[in-house]
Amino acid sequence: MNAPGWLQRFLNERYNMEVANTFIDKQMHKRLPPHTGWLHIFGSLSLLLFISQTITGILLLIYYRPTPDEAHASIQYITGEAHFGWLYRQVHAWGASLMILGLTLHMIRTYFMGSYKKPRELTWMTGVMIFVVTITFGFTGYLLPWNQIAFWATTVGTESAAKVPYIGGWLQYCLRGGDAVTGETLSRFFVVHVIILPWVLTGLIAVHLFLMRATNLATMERVGEEKKTPEECGIPFFPVHVAKEGVVAVLLIAVLVTLSVLSPWEIGEPANPLSTPPHIKPEWYFLPSYQLLKYFQGPYGAFMGIIACSVPFALLFFWPMLDRGKERHPRKRPLAVGFGLIGLISALALGYLGHVSGLEKSYFGARYHFSEKGWPTRIADDAPPSDSGGH
Ligand code: HEM
Repeated sequence: MNAPGWLQRFLNERYNMEVANTFIDKQMHKRLPPHTGWLHIFGSLSLLLFISQTITGILLLIYYRPTPDEAHASIQYITGEAHFGWLYRQVHAWGASLMILGLTLHMIRTYFMGSYKKPRELTWMTGVMIFVVTITFGFTGYLLPWNQIAFWATTVGTESAAKVPYIGGWLQYCLRGGDAVTGETLSRFFVVHVIILPWVLTGLIAVHLFLMRATNLATMERVGEEKKTPEECGIPFFPVHVAKEGVVAVLLIAVLVTLSVLSPWEIGEPANPLSTPPHIKPEWYFLPSYQLLKYFQGPYGAFMGIIACSVPFALLFFWPMLDRGKERHPRKRPLAVGFGLIGLISALALGYLGHVSGLEKSYFGARYHFSEKGWPTRIADDAPPSDSGGH
């Protein structure tokens, strides 16, 4: 793939373009290992979503106002009045969830294919940092519409920070900018969401992609026995892999627009610090931690809860240092695969319990009430429906 002739001539007459041309040529025509296929597109999918979030985020910034008096009304203005405002707001809201989903699938793929092993430990570790930054994006962005559910979810979320031993009180004060969630909190979350995190994430993604290119993609050979992919059997990055990425981009746009039209995110009622709504739940990606915290009670409960929620992330981060086996193929790594499956199933189960906790649900014609810890109790068939939840 080359730049148009006139542009090449223009640049060549002015600069020594050899270094840049050789670099671009090498990157575009890089040979990927022969098994590189559709499972290898989740990284590109995450990148496309990051680009989409940046573009729609900039569009939202044109009319968004980060003050308690104006935030909710400005989102209403974007949705109702601004040209295509409803669309870019929906694409941004849905894009956040899809990006976390895309990252999770990308992590699952690289975990089960053993791609995190030597020499790609740092690629994995920057990846885990990216994941943590992305969910922090979600947490800070959630408050910005300044609606009831966001206000109260942030109040509850920042209460958990107070449970961190020794520094909890100080941490909560820093996050909130005071004792309670106020306009100060909104201001802080806004700065973190639109200035700090975008730059941190851009830097991390750049390092991640550089490392990924420096080592090329992993083959399925044992650690230390990987051979350089030969010209004849490798998959050319351009046009073969790029074409797959194009297909993913088109499907992604279709999915984002379809979700935006068929299942739009509500703006909700403006925040009211004096009225607590029932059933304050965080976004789906915080549900496993939210639920896990509930099982730790008593004098050291809060401390143990914070430890229990942090350990999975620490394990993930240091995993390439802990799993030093040479095999990459999942069938030859029963322990690592078993461990990964247990982690995945636990996260799904906790997430589901978090979702149904405090609600009434029907299964196969029988009604159950789920306690805060997620334990079900059967409700008599003739009992009147409670106001606690849907089906
Ligand atoms: C916005 C965030 C991210 C972007 C844009 C990104 C992008 C990419 C791309 C394009 C690749 C090439 C192959 C593929 O897609 O499978 C890749 C490889 C890789 N990524 Fe990511 N990634 C991100 C986050 C993560 C996360 C969260 C992890 C795991 C914690 C991770 C771990 C890895 C590893 C280990 C490889 C090497 C795969 C191999 O050699 O086969 N990445 N990344």
